[in-house]
This record gives sequence, structure tokens and C-alpha cells, in this order.
Amino acid sequence: MVTWMNGSTVDIAPSILSADFSRLGAEIEAVARGGATILHFDVMDGHFVPNLTIGLPVLKSIARVTELPIDAHLMISEPGRYAEQFVEAGAKMVSVHVEADAHLHRTLASIKAAGAQAGVVINPATPIESLAEALQFSDYALVMSVNPGFGGQKFIPSSIDKVRRLKRMIEERQLETRIEIDGGIDLANIAAVVGAGAEIIVAGSAVFGGGNPEGAVRGLREATVQWV
Ligand code: DX5
Ligand code: ZN
Repeated sequence: MVTWMNGSTVDIAPSILSADFSRLGAEIEAVARGGATILHFDVMDGHFVPNLTIGLPVLKSIARVTELPIDAHLMISEPGRYAEQFVEAGAKMVSVHVEADAHLHRTLASIKAAGAQAGVVINPATPIESLAEALQFSDYALVMSVNPGFGGQKFIPSSIDKVRRLKRMIEERQLETRIEIDGGIDLANIAAVVGAGAEIIVAGSAVFGGGNPEGAVRGLREATVQWV
């Protein structure tokens, strides 16, 4: 975690979705050496999003081999049915989409009661106003800067202003909710999203796509430090 002079902090959270799954343990060790402070774990159900990925058994195995806190991003319908199980499997952070859950308050409370941080997520076309109530029940709010479902998509530029407006909303309410951003983050835009108020930065293809995940994480970290 990089701490700024104004007291805010930045976590780099590599998304293992873009890692080589045949050598996942080594990939995780590499990003840890590079200075990653969180591991982002994308769960997709082929229903809420048009793709399928990994779930509880993989999370359990990873939790056994890494010290990094695992951030489970649930891109699944009715996440309340599974959220607690992800905490039991070893996730220290679990986030659920506002678009997928009619009982958000209950789900967020169950994540916290199970001992993890609870996050709310909004898709690119979902307004920040939809978080107005949920923010107070959330440890972090995740702004999607691509439509969820796949790694390697192009960053949606209006996400920068969305983060800025969300940051203002959090400050106005005097809350401690941190902002996470996910989708298309790379060296070209990381400084702008951090400058707008994002503190947990997810990156998949920018970390694992170039053959040197350790160096890529280090580069992303350095690109945020210039804002100190
Ligand atoms: C997208 C996932 C992201 C994805 C990020 O649905 O939630 O976490 O893995 O990958 P990049 O950084 O390649 O957009
Ligand atoms: Zn994600």
C-alpha cells in the first residue's frame, strides 16, 4: 500500500483472470514481489455476465498459498446466496453488484458478519446515485470502468469523472468508504483515476499480459507515486 501525504492510500490489486492458470502460484508470487497488496478474484456465473470463470475451490487453494488479502468480485445473480461462502473460503473482501441484488443491505451485513470487508459495485451505466443508501453499509465501492464479463477491454474515459463525483458524495456524507476501480486500467490512465479518488486499483491484462507481472505491478505503483 502506498500512502500519500494527504493520508489516502493506494492498493494495486492484480486480477488473476488474466494470469496463466497452469502456473497460478508462481504468478501470484510474482505480483507480490512487485508490490501488489490485494489479489482481485473475478467470479462470473454465465447469467449476470456472459462468461464463466472460477469459484470457491480455486479461492480456497489460493488462500492457502498467499498472504495477500483476496478480493472476491462477484459478478453473479443473487450474490446473497453465496457471499458468505466466499468469506469462509478465505476472501477478506467480497463485493456484489447493485444491479444483481434486491437485498443488498442483507448481503452486505452477512459479508461483514462473516468477517470480511463488504463492497458494492456499479456497472458503467449505473449512476452513482444508486449507491446513496448502500454506501454507509459498505467498506468500499467499486466503479466498473468496462462492462463486466471479460478482461482486456478498453477503459471507458467517463469513469474518471464518475470516480470524482463518487468521491465527493462519500466526503459529503463523511464516510470512510474507499473507492475501487476495475477495467482497462494501465499505465496511461492509472494516475488519472488515482487523482480522481480511486484507492484500490484493479489491473488484469496490464499486469499479466506482457510476460513480466512483477515489473508491471512495480510500474503501476510507481505511476501512482508521482501524485504524492
Ligand atoms: C472484468 C473483471 C475485471 C478484469 C480486469 O469483468 O471484473 O476484474 O479482470 O481486467 P483488465 O484490467 O484487463 O480490464
Ligand atoms: Zn473484477
